[in-house]
Amino acid sequence: MSTRARPVGEITRGTTWHNRLRRCDRWLTAVHGPLLRAATPAPLVVDLGYGASHITTTELFTRLRRIVPRAEVAGLEIDPARVAAASPYSRPGLTFALGGFELPVDRPPTVVRAFNVLRQYDEERALEAWDLMRRRLAPRGVIVEGTCSEIGHRATWVTLGEEGPRTLTFSARLTGIERPSDLAERLPKALIHRNVPGEAIYELLRDFDQAWAVCAPHGAYGLRQRFLATVETLARAWPVATVPPLGGRGRWRLGEMTVPWSAVAPRRYVG
Ligand SMILES: C[S@@+](CC[C@H](N)C(=O)[O-])C[C@H]1O[C@@H](n2cnc3c(N)ncnc32)[C@H](O)[C@@H]1O
Repeated sequence: MSTRARPVGEITRGTTWHNRLRRCDRWLTAVHGPLLRAATPAPLVVDLGYGASHITTTELFTRLRRIVPRAEVAGLEIDPARVAAASPYSRPGLTFALGGFELPVDRPPTVVRAFNVLRQYDEERALEAWDLMRRRLAPRGVIVEGTCSEIGHRATWVTLGEEGPRTLTFSARLTGIERPSDLAERLPKALIHRNVPGEAIYELLRDFDQAWAVCAPHGAYGLRQRFLATVETLARAWPVATVPPLGGRGRWRLGEMTVPWSAVAPRRYVG
């Protein structure tokens, strides 16, 4: 009989889709490329909860290897059938294994990506999962925990370090939204129930929409110009990241905007 502990978590829906996580992958390689390149030994990146197909893990591996040729990726899934289905796609540097929030890998990961996983848990359990995963990180490592639409046009993610949550990032294909608050339906579990009056995330999305409305005339030059002007307007009232790697026009023009977690943390966590 195996003595291996049961993975921490529950099997949930395995929905996934080709290229669905490209917005996050693009951000990860741009923002955390230096962290990955500096890691010794080779950086280990965990893709937790890859779902019914290996595809988003394989895409992550391919994108990471372009910038860090020695990066290793471990796809972890709590459903043994999904591990069996993905395993034929393993190759040097890319593995698939059974595991949960305890992150059973052979060394502390530099990055953990967990996308569309925690939204299926209740809020308390999602926060416990954050804490458990944080304790497994390599020094200076990060967790990227987010949610996106079916084909990835709308996404938000929280970045956590060993010390706790650091930032919240919004990312949208601008032709796919009418207003920034369309992203509210894709907020991570820690915020989705907090989008109500009195909570900071509600106020941020309200002001984001208002800036978008005020900047409507910039739309004459295209949606990208309107979004750039919107984020610049929002940054006068909110601590939007305005310099690289997290902020600045280079990121905003991609339909991205990042704020510190402290600006949006639910009231119960800030006292
Ligand atoms: C909706 S799929 C997401 C697939 C992929 N990450 C994506 O975004 O397209 C969620 C997957 O997470 C898995 N999962 C849920 N809890 C988990 C846990 N604690 N550890 C590992 N996998 C988990 C589920 O079994 C499911 O296959």
